[in-house]
This record gives sequence, structure tokens and C-alpha cells, in this order.
Amino acid sequence: MALPEQHIAALLAAARQVRLRAHAPYSKFAVGAAVLDEQGRVHAGCNVENAAYPQGWCAETSALAHLVAAGGQRVLAVAVVGVVGPGADPVTPCGGCRQKLREFAANDCPVFIADDTQLRATLSLGQLLPMSFGPDHLKPTP
Ligand code: THU
Repeated sequence: MALPEQHIAALLAAARQVRLRAHAPYSKFAVGAAVLDEQGRVHAGCNVENAAYPQGWCAETSALAHLVAAGGQRVLAVAVVGVVGPGADPVTPCGGCRQKLREFAANDCPVFIADDTQLRATLSLGQLLPMSFGPDHLKPTP
């Protein structure tokens, strides 16, 4: 199902704005993400790094935490914004974040991959994480 243009614009704007708040002093690689919930609300988050490097976490994880804290239950669309140099591949969610998104999103959930000025790619979560393990696997079989 196509997402209304204003939802896409709101997701991208939120991800771009929150990216400016990233705490990324070690990698210097700031990322912003935003998720749209089932109530039409947008929840944004940035990456938060740590002096003990493995303790940092991704922008997508922050955005999901905000969705859950606000009582959201489903992710209907995602935006990820990282700034890449000319010709470089756009920033897609890492493997762990793909799985975290899978907890709340269907395979056809659109993931908008952008930089600070342009939408670079639109992929479904199922394309990013094919044949995935999800909550349905834990439901008892009849
Ligand atoms: N990062 C994200 O926040 N999201 C992604 O989709 C890819 C990577 C962060 C993690 C780390 O703080 C920095 O980017 C460099 O890997």
C-alpha cells in the first residue's frame, strides 16, 4: 500500500532533524531514523555512541524505543538518514536493526533511505531481511 506523500516527508524531516543530535564522537558518523506508528505518529531517534565502543546503539534502535515508550505498537514505515559522500552507497539499517524493526513491522513495510537532501532508495523490510524470523514463529502451532 502506498504511503501518503506527507507521511514520507514527515519521516524524512524528523530523521534529518534528529540526526543533528547524534552522539557520535568516535565514529563521527551521525545517523537519524524515524518510524511511523499505527496512529500516524512519527518517532525519531539518533545513534548514541559510548567511550566503551560496543555499548553504543543505532538511530533505528532509538526511534523504536521512542515508539514503544509512547505506546506505539506497529511500525508502518521507516526513514533512515545518514550522509554519505558522492557516489558512496546510501546508509541502510544494520543487520541487528533490521531484526529489531521486524518485531514491529511487516515484510512490506517501506524503508526510506535518504541523505540530508535526497531520497536515495526505497526498499521493503522484506527485501532488507528476507526469510526473517519474527514474532509469528513463537506463536503455538494449532
Ligand atoms: N549506525 C546507525 O545508527 N544506523 C545504521 O543504520 C548504521 C550505523 C551508527 C552506529 C554507529 O554509531 C555509527 O553509525 C557508525 O557505525
